[in-house]
Amino acid sequence: MSMQIPRGTQDILPEQAAIWQYIESVSRDLCRKYQYNEIRTPIFEHTEVFQRGVGETTDIVQKEMYTFTDRGDRSLTLRPEGTAAVVRSFVENKMFGWATQPVKLFYNGPMFRYERPQAGRFRQFVQFGVEAIGSADPAIDAEVVSLAMNLYKALGLKELKLVINSLGDIESRTAHRKALIEHFKPHIGEFCSDCQNRLEKNPLRILDCKKDRENELMSTAPSIFEYLNDESRAYFDKVLQHLDAMNIPYTVDATLVRGLDYYNHTAFEIMSNAKGFGAITTLCGGGRYHGLVEDFGGPEVPGIGFALSIERLIAALEAEGVTLPIEQATDIYVVALGDAAKDYSVKLVNELRQNGFSVDKDYNNRKVKAQFKAADRAKARFVAVLGDDELNNNKITLKNMESGEQKELNLSSFIEEFKKEQQ
Ligand code: HAM
Repeated sequence: MSMQIPRGTQDILPEQAAIWQYIESVSRDLCRKYQYNEIRTPIFEHTEVFQRGVGETTDIVQKEMYTFTDRGDRSLTLRPEGTAAVVRSFVENKMFGWATQPVKLFYNGPMFRYERPQAGRFRQFVQFGVEAIGSADPAIDAEVVSLAMNLYKALGLKELKLVINSLGDIESRTAHRKALIEHFKPHIGEFCSDCQNRLEKNPLRILDCKKDRENELMSTAPSIFEYLNDESRAYFDKVLQHLDAMNIPYTVDATLVRGLDYYNHTAFEIMSNAKGFGAITTLCGGGRYHGLVEDFGGPEVPGIGFALSIERLIAALEAEGVTLPIEQATDIYVVALGDAAKDYSVKLVNELRQNGFSVDKDYNNRKVKAQFKAADRAKARFVAVLGDDELNNNKITLKNMESGEQKELNLSSFIEEFKKEQQ
């Protein structure tokens, strides 16, 4: 029997949860500025959604999915990523018919991949992601990249590196694919079994293999740039021009290959350059996907998006020593001594909360000194002290914990007087 947390998952305890909430609020605020609206899709989908969407030859589909059969004998999978599910929903809800195009969506939620856990790699992790579906304007590619960069910047990260590539359109990709097969085929015996399988199915993924990284044929492999047709090249140039106009620095890297099958044209990743950041430096990945909406039975509608995990974002904040401005103060802590005062404090705390204040009191029968200590730990701005004598005389003492100033107030009009103290 195992009563411990499953490998690759984590508990987010209250102090950490405050950091998560802060990040979520900054990302929501940014999405409002960029006019991306939230979508919430189920945690599990029919397995085909990811098989078809993410691609049969990817590591995700071949090795990493949490797939199970439900009691109705259906094969379901805990979502390993958001894009396929969002596109499924886009088609199912006929969003291509909505008046506002492109449809700009964001999501924030847990994803599941059966990977080998290590720093920055979990089996359950939270992705914040966006998808803009319904436009093939290079300006939207630049918008999506800038949203990701600006989220990191808004949180105080500085050591960022944006790497960008074009995978070209279908014509360019087909030509490049052919060249890759010709390049690797004579020596494919030197490569791992995964790469041997990939050769005919998806040779681009060979470039992304971690096991065969050192093989000489990797660095001499034909570059996609030699195979980009004029249209794809012009598209990519326009994306870069828009990034320049927004002063977003980038590195073009023709070897950047994403681990999912649906990409074409723009592909990008954002890495952390921070010293002390673990071996996995990719914070965010995204790109354009033409054809995915059609794969799901929808019309020919192009899309682009990215996803980033909050776990890696928090690790980058830690590596750069950024502390977030998180305020966890309590407006007022009610210290009570004596049975009658304690009873009264229950009612008082309730009234204060109903008036919008964050309030706490002692529930462990502590002595006055210990109650003040608890008030300090709760970062209380004020402490109200109520004893049985004060109760009898309709009085209560209010202490401003910052200035140390103390006042005696009328108990019956306490809430009104306390409100005045806030001004
Ligand atoms: P991905 O590159 O598989 O792309 O994942 C995106 C990000 O999710 C990664 O850069 C990383 O921050 C985070 N991530 C992935 N796996 C893990 C893990 N095991 N533990 C912690 N974090 C992880 C996608 O998922 C695409 N759906 C992105 C996209 C959206 N493309 C277009 N639209």
